[in-house]
Amino acid sequence: MALAFDEFGRPFVIIKEQDQKVRLRGLDAQKANIASGMAVSRILRTSLGPKGMDKMLQSPDGDVTTTNDGATILEQMDVDNQIAKLLVELSRSQDYEIGDGTTGVVVLAGALLEQAQKLLERGVHPIRVAEGYETASRIAVENLEKIAQRFDFGVNNIEPLVQTCMTTLSSKIVNRCKRSLAEISVKAVLAVADLERKDVNLDLIKVEGKVGGKLEDTELIYGILVDKEMSHPQMPKQIEDAKIAILTCPFEPPKPKTKHKMDIDTVEKFQTLRKQEQQYFNNMVQKCKGVGATLVICQWGFDDEANHLLMHRDLPAVRWVGGVELELIAIATGGRIVPRFEELTPEKLGKAGLVREKAFGTTKDRMLYVEHCANSRAVTIFIRGGNKMMVEETKRSIHDALCVARNLIRNNSIVYGGGSSEISCSISVEAAADRYPGVEQYAIRAFADALDSVPMALAENSGLQPIETLSAVKSQQIKENNPLLWNRLQ
Ligand SMILES: Nc1ncnc2c1ncn2[C@@H]1O[C@H](COP(=O)(O)OP(=O)(O)O)[C@@H](O)[C@H]1O
Ligand SMILES: [Mg+2]
Repeated sequence: MALAFDEFGRPFVIIKEQDQKVRLRGLDAQKANIASGMAVSRILRTSLGPKGMDKMLQSPDGDVTTTNDGATILEQMDVDNQIAKLLVELSRSQDYEIGDGTTGVVVLAGALLEQAQKLLERGVHPIRVAEGYETASRIAVENLEKIAQRFDFGVNNIEPLVQTCMTTLSSKIVNRCKRSLAEISVKAVLAVADLERKDVNLDLIKVEGKVGGKLEDTELIYGILVDKEMSHPQMPKQIEDAKIAILTCPFEPPKPKTKHKMDIDTVEKFQTLRKQEQQYFNNMVQKCKGVGATLVICQWGFDDEANHLLMHRDLPAVRWVGGVELELIAIATGGRIVPRFEELTPEKLGKAGLVREKAFGTTKDRMLYVEHCANSRAVTIFIRGGNKMMVEETKRSIHDALCVARNLIRNNSIVYGGGSSEISCSISVEAAADRYPGVEQYAIRAFADALDSVPMALAENSGLQPIETLSAVKSQQIKENNPLLWNRLQ
C-alpha cells in the first residue's frame, strides 16, 4: 500500500499487487471465518465469571469505560470483520432478550466454532456439523428442563429472587454491595410487575446515576427524581400531598412582540413601572394559588423579584426544569402541562404524595424527589458512586440484575451456575451421541466438548487447572448422578 497525492493535494491510497491476491475459497475460507469468530470469543473469555477480569476500553475521543459486561465490551470494540460482527450481534441480542449471560454466550459460540474447525479439518461436511449441533442442542435443552428447579416467590417472599440476582451481581465490580443492590433491583421489578400476566415493563424503571457519595447510598425511589432544587433556599424542603402546577410560561412580565421604547425620566414613572411589574407577578402567583397549587414546576426561569414573592406567598417553586423531565412529571403525577397562566384549572394540577428536596452530605448538590405519584407506578433507582466509571458500570450491572428478576417473574425455574449445568448437559449429550450411528455423532460429541469450555474458562479465570478441575467435577457428577455439583470459586 502506498499513500499518494493528486494535483489538488488530496491524499489517496494505492493498493499494490492487487492482481496477485487470491480469494479464499472452500475450507480455507471457512477456517478464516472461524478464526475471526474465535478471536472475539478469546477476548471475552477472561472476563467470564466472578473471578473474571474487567476490561478497560478507550473510545476514539479518549473516554474510558471499565466493564465486565460482554455486550458492552463488544459494543465498544471497533470490530471490522463481518464474521466477528456476527458475534457482536449475538451478544447484543442476548442483552436485548435476556439481559445477562452476554459473555457466556460468546464464549460458548467461540467454543462451538473451535470444535467445528476440527471437524472440518477431518473432512466432515459443514451441513453434517450443523445437523449434529442442532440435535445436540435439542438434547441439551431437554436435559436443562430436567434438571431445572422451580421456586415460589411472592411479594412477601422475595428471598429467592434476591439470591438469584446476587449471583448475577457477583461477577461484577459492584459485588461488595451485591445484597443491597439485588434487593433494590427485585423491589423495583416487583413494584412495576404485573404478576397476573407475568410481565414486567422495564421502561417504568428509570436508572439514574450521580457521581458522588458511596455505592452503599444507592437507593430505590418510588417515584421520579429531578436533578433540580427549590428556587429559593428558604422555601419548604418537603411538601406532602403536593398539587403541582406544571408550567411552560415564565414568571415574567409579558414582552411585547413589536419594538418599543420607553422613556423613564421621572421617579414617579419608575415607581409606576415597578408597581406594574409587581402587579404582574402578584397576579401570576395568585392564579396559581387560586387553583390550589402547592408547588410550581416551571420550564423557564424567573428573576429574583418573582422568586422573592413566591417565597413570601408560600408557593414553593422549581425553575429551569427540562422538557423531558417536565413531561415525565406530568405523566407520573397525572397533571397537564400548562402553557399560559389563564389556562390553569384545578384539574390540570398533578398530584404527588410527597415532594422533597434532598441534600447530599456537605456538597451543594440537591435533588428533588417526587414520590407516591397519582398516576404511575414508575420507580427510579438512584445510583451513587465515587466516579463516573463506577456509576456507569453500576448502571450496567443493575440492568443485568433487573433483567434476571424480570426473567424469573416470567418463568420461575432456575438451573445452577458455576458450570454445573453445562457439565450436566455435556454428560447427557455425550451419552446420547452413541445412539447416533452416522457422522453426526462426531458433531454431537464436539458439541459436548464445546459445553465444557464454560466451566473450563471459569476454572482458568480463577487460577485453577482447567482440565483437572473439569474432569474431577465431571466424574463426580457422573458417579453421584448429581447435576448440581460445581467448582466453588468464591
Ligand atoms: N460464585 C460463583 N462461582 C462460580 N461460578 C459463578 C459464580 N457466580 C457466577 N458464576 C458463573 O459465572 C458465569 C457468568 O459470568 P459473567 O461474568 O456474569 O458473564 P455473563 O456476562 O455471561 O453473565 C456463569 O457461567 C455463572 O455460572
Ligand atoms: Mg452475568
